[in-house]
Amino acid sequence: MKIGIDQISFATSNLYIDMAELANARKEAPGKYLIGIGQKKMAVLPPTQDSVTLAANAADQLLTPTNREQIDTILFASESGVDQSKSGAVYLQSLLNLPTHVRAVEIKQACYSATAALQLARGYIALHPDKKVLITASDIARYGLHTAGEPTQGGGAIAMIISRSPRILAIDDDSAVYTENIMDFWRPNYATEALVNGHYSGHMYVDFFNDVFSTYRKQTGLTLDQFAALAFHLPYTKMGFKALKSVLPQGKPETQQRLAANFAASHQYNQVVGNLYTGSLYLSLLSLLENATDLKAGDRIGLFSYGSGAVSEFYSGVLQAGFQTMLHTKQQHTKLTQRQKVSILAYEKLFQYQLPRDGSTIDLDTTQDPAKFVLAGIKAHQRQYQQH
Ligand code: COA
Repeated sequence: MKIGIDQISFATSNLYIDMAELANARKEAPGKYLIGIGQKKMAVLPPTQDSVTLAANAADQLLTPTNREQIDTILFASESGVDQSKSGAVYLQSLLNLPTHVRAVEIKQACYSATAALQLARGYIALHPDKKVLITASDIARYGLHTAGEPTQGGGAIAMIISRSPRILAIDDDSAVYTENIMDFWRPNYATEALVNGHYSGHMYVDFFNDVFSTYRKQTGLTLDQFAALAFHLPYTKMGFKALKSVLPQGKPETQQRLAANFAASHQYNQVVGNLYTGSLYLSLLSLLENATDLKAGDRIGLFSYGSGAVSEFYSGVLQAGFQTMLHTKQQHTKLTQRQKVSILAYEKLFQYQLPRDGSTIDLDTTQDPAKFVLAGIKAHQRQYQQH
């Protein structure tokens, strides 16, 4: 039985900053951000968007009367959870008006958890082939103003429906995983921004990739030449490029050319949105599917997932006949180009704004946020979500 990604969608905020302007404001050469790190624009998140509203805005695009009845599990992958106890998935169930006969859980391991959710969903569907699983991967990446990590912030959500007979990507059973306890990036409970050892993280990412990719090749007998494309977890595009570069010599010249061209397609969206943490790999997959010019049914795509701390996995999937009809490329491009640019000053104000942390009540102005689902405030310690 084939199991995999049947539908996929994406949501981010309507605000962004230009990376050349951020570089100027930080007295850095624009080339450092645009080429050295590989980012052109960065999503800026207003206080009316959090990991729940972003996930709801992404998932809402996928729901139909039929799949609403088939989804019996919601897996909410995030490292920007809004509650230490209640899962974001429960909020999603009610915001999206999904049946109450559904299990709803949150899952966490830095940027890796959406891949864990996908693999768990595959096992579940193997036992319950008539069911579908809704996975959301939503985060707001925060490193802090004037920090080295600042140009690698961003935010947004990916939603995917996992089912049997998937119409986009059938996932292969083989995969290679690697876990090692390292401190490259983490966020203690008392911190609103991540702590990161960025250069160390970059090296570990490439090392972990080489470990799981070579294990995967030994396990399956597949070679680099058999991949149409590789999609990487992309907190910023240069990171994935370094991993790709480390294995390119394993391929024939035409393979090297194909993988490099498809890598360029796979980072088009990430390059203008920034870091999604858990959703980054799947935004890159979506970018690849919607922007590559030569992908066809039967092509194998390799996926590298990495979550600091650190857990990594390499697996692959095969594109299904008619996958192009399941994509919404034109709407995606329109949404991304119609966003509103904000000044660096306005971004700094939005970044510094914090919801009250002492339990007090707040009403947020939602009139400036065009998203369907917004956070309207906090009352009696409860988040108030609204649908526009
Ligand atoms: N033109 C082109 N490239 C330039 C440049 C210029 N004018 N100036 C610098 N660069 C290049 C550097 O050579 C470097 O490239 P390299 O990585 O290929 O060597 C790149 O730009 C970045 O420069 P660097 O000096 O390393 O930047 P930095 O010390 O400010 O840190 C990061 C960059 C990415 C490490 C930092 O933003 C960070 O820590 N981000 C978070 C990483 C993370 O989240 N990791 C965990 C998640 S998996």
